[in-house]
Amino acid sequence: MTQYLEAEAEPLRNTGVIRLYGPDGFEGMRRACGLTALCLDEVAAMVAPGVTTQAIDDFVFDFARRHDAVPATYNYRGYPYATCISINHVVCHGQPNEKPLREGDIVNIDVTLIVDGWHGDSSRMYPVGKLKRAAERLCEITHRSMMLGIQAVRPGGHTGDIGAAIQTYAEAERCSVVRDFCGHGVGKLFHDAPNILHYGRRGEGPEMRPGMIFTIEPMINLGRPAVKILSDGWTAVTRDRSLSAQYEHTVGVTDTGYEIFTLSPGGLDMPGFAPAAAA
Ligand code: MF3
Ligand code: CO
Ligand code: CO
Repeated sequence: MTQYLEAEAEPLRNTGVIRLYGPDGFEGMRRACGLTALCLDEVAAMVAPGVTTQAIDDFVFDFARRHDAVPATYNYRGYPYATCISINHVVCHGQPNEKPLREGDIVNIDVTLIVDGWHGDSSRMYPVGKLKRAAERLCEITHRSMMLGIQAVRPGGHTGDIGAAIQTYAEAERCSVVRDFCGHGVGKLFHDAPNILHYGRRGEGPEMRPGMIFTIEPMINLGRPAVKILSDGWTAVTRDRSLSAQYEHTVGVTDTGYEIFTLSPGGLDMPGFAPAAAA
């Protein structure tokens, strides 16, 4: 049985209960998510051949400090960076390092900023210089799959409607959906109930209710869905070394549908891609 509670009524840990946030929670999330989106906008100007992912992480750390925010990933389960930066066949949780970006790379930058205790969690793909068509196409399909998932969010629907929309589209495009990582409830906690699967069937999973806040963050591969974790204990890569892409928004369930909290203030939801692709 799925349980729901007013957000403030529960202890601050993931108890499996789905929190329902009120107007104050939505307002707090608009601020935290807006700052995360602004940070991802500013990062767009940095991404170029020769730039190191460590330099991007340093920028995000400083951005957070300048805006009185805290990077949620720093010290999270021992993770030592402000960002996850995942290049090419890296699926997620790539760690910043001193290697320069190279022309043709596709780079996911995932940032979560905490503002007044609220977590804004979002990621985008950034092209490095000119891409091959297959890489560009994967990013476009991944963004579209996320948006189709978001469009399935409505009160009375089920979380499985989101995964079904993503999987149906991505597989019709001959891509695969990673099963090993999912979206998650978010708000006062970084990772909370419910899990949001990016595959599945309509009608499965808990019912969506107004006040729920969660991420939708599909990881889509050009090849097979299987992943493995490298010996650093974090970096997830495709087993077949095929390219992988991911976008992530934080969304809230409203009385009539959804609100996307992490939309780009600068129109850079798909930085570096043609506006037509973002439609
Ligand atoms: N930001 C990631 C997410 O979308 C989580 C990263 S946790 C870390 O949920 F420890 F790897 F940083
Ligand atoms: Co997330
Ligand atoms: Co994230």
